[in-house]
Amino acid sequence: MTTHFEAQLPACPHSGFGWMFFRQWLRNPFGIAALSPSSRHLARLMVNQLPASSRRVVELGGGTGVFTRALLQEGIAPQDLLVVELNPALHDLLSHRFPGVGVIHGDACELAALLASRHAGAPQSVDAIVSGLGLLSMSRATQRCILLAAFSVMSPEGCFIQFTYGPASPVSRELLAELGLAVRRGGIAWVNVPPATVYVYTRSRTRGIRAVRVPVTHRAPSYFARRRTAVPESRPPVSSSP
Ligand SMILES: C[S@@+](CC[C@H](N)C(=O)[O-])C[C@H]1O[C@@H](n2cnc3c(N)ncnc32)[C@H](O)[C@@H]1O
Repeated sequence: MTTHFEAQLPACPHSGFGWMFFRQWLRNPFGIAALSPSSRHLARLMVNQLPASSRRVVELGGGTGVFTRALLQEGIAPQDLLVVELNPALHDLLSHRFPGVGVIHGDACELAALLASRHAGAPQSVDAIVSGLGLLSMSRATQRCILLAAFSVMSPEGCFIQFTYGPASPVSRELLAELGLAVRRGGIAWVNVPPATVYVYTRSRTRGIRAVRVPVTHRAPSYFARRRTAVPESRPPVSSSP
């Protein structure tokens, strides 16, 4: 579902952001969890896992925007996309680079509250979550927190798309069973440093995570309720050269 929006995007925009990403990694290697941004090949493999009718998408750990860009290219409207990024410098970069997209500075664990505070659609209205988080290096408690938050805002058919550099699913079988989740492998992106595997998590048919209702106190149209219009990406005011 590539749209005319793709034509408006620079050919290879993420390459110039590698240096900035690396600098953030030097400051906080465990938080960033990767030396360089993901490749376009991995980004494509990630967005290929979106359910066919996906409209409302959340991205966790946007980094420099490799997946953000791929999601927009895939036809997700800017106003239907929300990106959550914890690192303040990367949050600012994303905000400048994708002015039409809702970019939130915050913790993925707080996703339900973050969406509610942005009046971002009805509860459980998210079709898919694309995660760039370094889930493998997180504790089980943090993984649990993130997955509970993620599935609390997703529709019953929603899926959580995650990549990993590890040899297996970054979420253990025990935690999957505890949360009532099923997993399938989406594929391997060999053209990535290092090669990465994509996993897709869904509610298990027999015992899924129960919906958590997030109170929405304001009646408001949301990022997720507006008409689809393409907003061009703008270049950020990066002071240092890549
Ligand atoms: C491995 S990088 C991936 C960046 C980008 N998606 C990519 O693939 O190139 C992980 C990103 O997640 C962000 N991050 C880490 N923990 C987070 C959290 N709890 N909530 C939101 N973002 C987080 C980091 O700041 C970093 O930008």
